Amino acid sequence: MITAVNDLKILLTDEQIQTRIKSLADEINNDYKGEEIVLICVLKGAVMFAVDLSKHLNMPLKMEFIKLSSYGNGMTSSGKVQSFGAHLEEINGKNVLIVEDIIDTGLTAEFLINYIKETYNPKTLKFCSLLNKKETRKSSVEPDYYGFEIGNKFVVGYGLDDEGYNRNLNYIGYKEI
Ligand code: IMP
Ligand code: MG
Repeated sequence: MITAVNDLKILLTDEQIQTRIKSLADEINNDYKGEEIVLICVLKGAVMFAVDLSKHLNMPLKMEFIKLSSYGNGMTSSGKVQSFGAHLEEINGKNVLIVEDIIDTGLTAEFLINYIKETYNPKTLKFCSLLNKKETRKSSVEPDYYGFEIGNKFVVGYGLDDEGYNRNLNYIGYKEI
C-alpha cells in the first residue's frame, strides 16, 4: 500500500540528516587524505544521499551511477548491475566508495562488493550507507561508514521509496502500524 505523506511519522528530520552527513563527510575526508576516490551511487535510493555527501567531500572525486537491474527475492541477490553512462573501467586502481541508501539484510551490499571486486580491480573498496538496519542482517557484510542505525521499520523519504513514491521527501519517515 502506498503511504500518504500525512500518515507518516518523522524518524529523521532534514536537519538531522544534513548534520550527520556533514560529520560523515569529515570522517571520509580524513580517511582519504591525499587520495582520489570514485564514488559509486547506487540508484535510485542513494541519489539524494550521494549528492549531498559529495558536496562536503574535498578530495579529487569522480561520481559514477549504477543500478541493480534485477534484485532477487531477498535471499538471492541475483541482480545484474547496469552502469549508466559510466566508464566503470575507470575504477581500476582507484579508491572506490559505494554509496547506498540502506543496508537491511546486507545481501545487496554483499552482491555489489563481490561484483566490483570480481569485475574490476579497485585499489580499495569501501561501503557507505545512510541507514543501517542491524537487526535484519542475513550477511556478514557491514558498512565501513553509515549515518544512522535504525530499527526494523519500513522507512521512506530522502531517496527511499514505497512502490516508487515518497523518494522526494527531505526527511525520513515511517508508518506506524
Ligand atoms: P538488503 O539487500 O536487504 O540489504 O536491501 C537493501 C535494499 O532494500 C535497499 O537498497 C532498499 O532498496 C531496500 N530497502 C530495505 N529496507 C528498506 C526500507 O525500509 N525502505 C525502503 N527500501 C528499503
Ligand atoms: Mg536500493
